Amino acid sequence: MKTRITEMFGIKHPIIQGGMHFVGFAEMAAAVSNAGGLGIITGLTQRSPENLAREIARCKEMTSKPFGVNLTFLPSVNPPDYPGYIRVIVEAGIKIVETAGNNPQKWLPALKDAGIKIIHKCTSVRHSLKAETIGCDAVSVDGFECGGHPGEDDVPNFILLPRAADELKIPFVASGGMADGRSLVAALAMGADGMNMGTRFIATKEAPVHENVKQALVAASELDTRLIMRPLRNTERVLKNAAVERLLEKEKALGASIKFEDIFGEVAGVYPKIMKEGEMDAGAWSCGMVAGLTYDIPSVQELIERIMAQADDIIRGRLVRL
Ligand SMILES: Cc1cc2nc3c(=O)[nH]c(=O)nc-3n(C[C@H](O)[C@H](O)[C@H](O)COP(=O)(O)O)c2cc1C
Repeated sequence: MKTRITEMFGIKHPIIQGGMHFVGFAEMAAAVSNAGGLGIITGLTQRSPENLAREIARCKEMTSKPFGVNLTFLPSVNPPDYPGYIRVIVEAGIKIVETAGNNPQKWLPALKDAGIKIIHKCTSVRHSLKAETIGCDAVSVDGFECGGHPGEDDVPNFILLPRAADELKIPFVASGGMADGRSLVAALAMGADGMNMGTRFIATKEAPVHENVKQALVAASELDTRLIMRPLRNTERVLKNAAVERLLEKEKALGASIKFEDIFGEVAGVYPKIMKEGEMDAGAWSCGMVAGLTYDIPSVQELIERIMAQADDIIRGRLVRL
């Protein structure tokens, strides 16, 4: 399948694996790129630019295909060494960066001067248009269903994607709730040039996370995610567990007076415990509603081939017959 996204990124299939904290290691990115999609290493999971340089080098040993790096720009008192991460990305010859979070404008010149294509992840049409205006090459349009941070507008993809298609000139991929060939065909029908998956890629053989995490995704239904940190205007969709229930109780009890410090224990530094140790109640971790469409743990190659075959069947079979 050829779309503006496969052409732009030099990939076989229009399927991207979005940056994921403590999941997007070299093993994950290489598996997706080797299967013909676009794998992405999560920059900030690496504690320093030097560590990111090593992770990129490891990924290059595992694949000769294009892969990208995610840079998430978060509001923070002590920001990470973004210039250092960008220097390492440029020096490593990375040609695709997925930006997310705050407006990446400040960082674009350094990236674009190095010939890097930028795909910015946005949860609204206005932010997508802004990304286009400041010179991003593509957008990942993340609907309300998504795992992680869906923003505060709560617009699901059935509205958000066609709205994005009506406004944008640059290509975009559909993100949030994407799981299979049906997702891909629907995304294309609504004007996207491909899709981005997060949660679904965690339930694969190669995902470098504890088996408990994969089993939790298979066991979960579409009813099992919760929105946390809404009162802090930093909404995150996570899988429900004991820590999330506790956090939501605090939100209810403290109301508008809640501060980040009140829920520190449930959200800060919990990813290694969950993703590496498999302690499923250690804290809140991002998870999309698509858990409900996650029935098995195939290899990444099997998953991507299945998606493409199902998309082909739908287009040439069901749709043509209709
Ligand atoms: C466990 C997990 C961690 C994530 N971490 C990040 C991150 O660090 N930066 C980022 O931009 N997006 C992050 N995301 C969001 C994904 O890149 C992607 O946009 C999202 O998962 C798409 O929705 P889906 O889960 O329904 O496929 C994360 C998602 C998950 C599930």
